[in-house]
Amino acid sequence: MPLFGLGTSHQGGYSHEAVVYALTQCGVRHIDTAERYGCEEQLGRAIKESMVSREDLWITNKLWPDNYGFSTAKKACLRSCSIMGLEYFDLYLMHWPGNFESRVSNREARAETWRALEELYKEGICKAIGVSNFLVHHLEQLKEDSSGVIPHVNQMEYHPYQQSSTVMEYCQKEGIVFEGYCPLAKGQLLDEPKVLHMAEKHRRTPAQICIRWSLQNGVVTIPKSTKIQRVRENCQVFDFQLDKTDMEALSKMHDGRHVTWDPSNIQ
Ligand SMILES: NC(=O)c1ccc[n+]([C@@H]2O[C@H](COP(=O)([O-])OP(=O)(O)OC[C@H]3O[C@@H](n4cnc5c(N)ncnc54)[C@H](OP(=O)(O)O)[C@@H]3O)[C@@H](O)[C@H]2O)c1
Repeated sequence: MPLFGLGTSHQGGYSHEAVVYALTQCGVRHIDTAERYGCEEQLGRAIKESMVSREDLWITNKLWPDNYGFSTAKKACLRSCSIMGLEYFDLYLMHWPGNFESRVSNREARAETWRALEELYKEGICKAIGVSNFLVHHLEQLKEDSSGVIPHVNQMEYHPYQQSSTVMEYCQKEGIVFEGYCPLAKGQLLDEPKVLHMAEKHRRTPAQICIRWSLQNGVVTIPKSTKIQRVRENCQVFDFQLDKTDMEALSKMHDGRHVTWDPSNIQ
């Protein structure tokens, strides 16, 4: 799984130009999307336009809880593939541990949906399967309920304010790849004095400092931008290093805040 990818989103819009630019001019090979973001069709077009071979790409998609349940999940995945013009996903995630259907408990919905993902994996429609926003108790229950495949990846909010350390340690112990989203805390980190100071010290931008921090912690990261100059900037993070003092100073910024949603109330 490429350590660096480009995020896409419904919030803040989707930019066809930025995706094509990332693929053709910046060498980005990993793109993160979701059924929920409503840009599958446009993204499929951008991938085609880029002319990058399918086997060189890593495409992650996510299943929205509206479509949890065994047969609905399978149908939703096949529909997403068809909308994007793809034969398979490199990674397919359950987007959220909660279920929007009151007929079954969250745990039952997760287990039933996971069975569908296991089948999609065995059929080769999803080369890897995983979850997103799952805390330790969700992962433990899934392990008990599944027929043997444990999630390959758990995608979690991850930036200096929100380090999800307990989940990260659990994932490392269980052999689950810990992937981080919102590396810039949706921009909140970009005017932090400590980050600005480091940017000046390394002659880099605040966004590059934040992305580099994730990468140096070994965390897969997927910053999003709709602007081509920022896409380029965000990719230029492989030719400098933060030192131990910088890494520690950023790690001390954890205050537990979420800039998106917080799964801790989901049973
Ligand atoms: N699994 C989940 O539940 C979940 C939840 C949230 C996000 N995600 C994934 O993670 C990806 C990234 O998360 P995110 O977009 O929410 O947050 P983010 O990457 O932390 O921040 C994106 C914001 O920062 C701005 N930005 C990007 N690069 C910049 C730069 N170099 N300088 C200044 N501003 C910059 C963007 O604006 P412009 O677009 O205007 O440049 C946008 O407003 C998403 O696209 C999505 O794929 C997953």
